[in-house]
Amino acid sequence: MSISNGSGSELHMNRLKNRTEFHLVQVKNTWKRKTGKGAAQKEHSRLSAAKIYESTTEDEVSWTVVSPIIFTYKVLQSQNLLHPSNDTLVSGHIRDPQQLEAIRSGTNRLKRFVVIDEMVNNLYGCQVADYFEARNVIYRILPLPTTEENKSMEMVMKILEEVHKFGIDRRTEPIIAVGGGVCLDIVGLAASLYRRRTPYIRVPTTLLSYIDASVGAKTGVNFANCKNKLGTYIPPVATFLDRSFIKTLPRRHISNGLAEILKMALMKHRGLFELLEMQGKFLLETQFQSTCGLGSHSDAASLSTRVAIETMLEELAPNLWEDDLDRLVDFGHLISPELEMKVLPALLHGEAVNIDMSLMAYVSQERGLLTEDEKFRIIRCMLELELPVWHKDCTLALVRNALSERLQHSGGLLRMPLPTGLGRAEIFNDTSDETLYKAFEKWCDQLNTKGPEMSQIMGLNLS
Ligand SMILES: NC(=O)c1ccc[n+]([C@@H]2O[C@H](COP(=O)([O-])OP(=O)(O)OC[C@H]3O[C@@H](n4cnc5c(N)ncnc54)[C@H](O)[C@@H]3O)[C@@H](O)[C@H]2O)c1
Ligand SMILES: [Zn+2]
Repeated sequence: MSISNGSGSELHMNRLKNRTEFHLVQVKNTWKRKTGKGAAQKEHSRLSAAKIYESTTEDEVSWTVVSPIIFTYKVLQSQNLLHPSNDTLVSGHIRDPQQLEAIRSGTNRLKRFVVIDEMVNNLYGCQVADYFEARNVIYRILPLPTTEENKSMEMVMKILEEVHKFGIDRRTEPIIAVGGGVCLDIVGLAASLYRRRTPYIRVPTTLLSYIDASVGAKTGVNFANCKNKLGTYIPPVATFLDRSFIKTLPRRHISNGLAEILKMALMKHRGLFELLEMQGKFLLETQFQSTCGLGSHSDAASLSTRVAIETMLEELAPNLWEDDLDRLVDFGHLISPELEMKVLPALLHGEAVNIDMSLMAYVSQERGLLTEDEKFRIIRCMLELELPVWHKDCTLALVRNALSERLQHSGGLLRMPLPTGLGRAEIFNDTSDETLYKAFEKWCDQLNTKGPEMSQIMGLNLS
């Protein structure tokens, strides 16, 4: 070993001097490192997308592995998902034609493990069982009380023990989760852990999970009194959407889901905002059931859910692992996790998100990004959707604390998504404490449920 007495930059040059890029080529079942671009051009050889970089300095050798991982998953909107004639639930996730053919020919009996929210089981459990019976599938249905308070590792372990007892083929027998966001998040985490990654399918039964929890890659449970502190970024192999589940959902939970639709509207789609303004109440009344079927795509329920999912996928697909910290989909999620956990179970997820968005509309207006009229249009729309716009436990101390947490976990920048009009937004790092304070004061003055101004806001002629 030699000791260099060169300058810092010389040392740096030395460290980088011998860097070799290797492609990986497969020849007859074995992978070989090859240099040069033409490495894999020969017949019968396969080129991996992975690369190995070898660096040699005088005193060390290192290998840097770059191995791209591709996730492919399907979000499928279907009708009558639980009708025995519908293939989706058993084979909608399969892309390989040979595998599909094997299923259709019925050579092997299929096996499916289903975790279902207890309440959903009371409503739809028989239909799920009848479906698998009719299709001659070997199945086990595990109903669980998947509530926010039970969203924990204990529940994950319970699922894993049952999955293990039942026995599934890790490659071909996906675990199916049927329920709201809590159930989907817990089962997703259990599947991510079982044998390091077992495929799973999401069947959302709440509006919130239909447009939000089921389209991305995140799984998780609460830990140390923090929301979703433990989790993975492993998408399901497929999500099967059927809006008919929503007809049994309590009204408050429909409002809850509308909050996440409103988030996408405010961030990305003025048309969606206007649709919610005009037909939000109607959607709430009719529980998102359309009369014209899926094919028409023209009624408010089909249109709003479709745009919400499309805009959500646009933001999620390029950033599945959330490496980019500047995310518009974080709107409403800066303060709400702290508020939601503090008052648990008083506020539903979407309600806490809405309170956060409501305060942020005030911050936007205080910064001159929104006009007073636009701000009130947003608040009025929220109230029409029967969402809370203010909460006594959302104190300035909580807001400041949540934002300083955000700073710590977002690379030292606030990355605050704010509406810059109706249906447009940008991310800001420079909201001063003074702006925050003024916006908060105004927010409390105007929206405090005991204050006199609420009815004025509702009655304002803003056209
Ligand atoms: N993974 C993600 O990207 C993501 C995104 C958003 C939210 N989430 C998570 O989702 C959770 C909230 O989801 P949620 O709002 O669906 O809550 P939830 O899962 O608690 O379901 C709400 C309630 O509705 C009941 N229910 C479900 N479907 C029903 C139906 N069809 N008819 C009647 N009752 C029904 C449930 O039993 C439950 O009581 C939170 O934990 C949140 O962290 C995750
Ligand atoms: Zn959310």
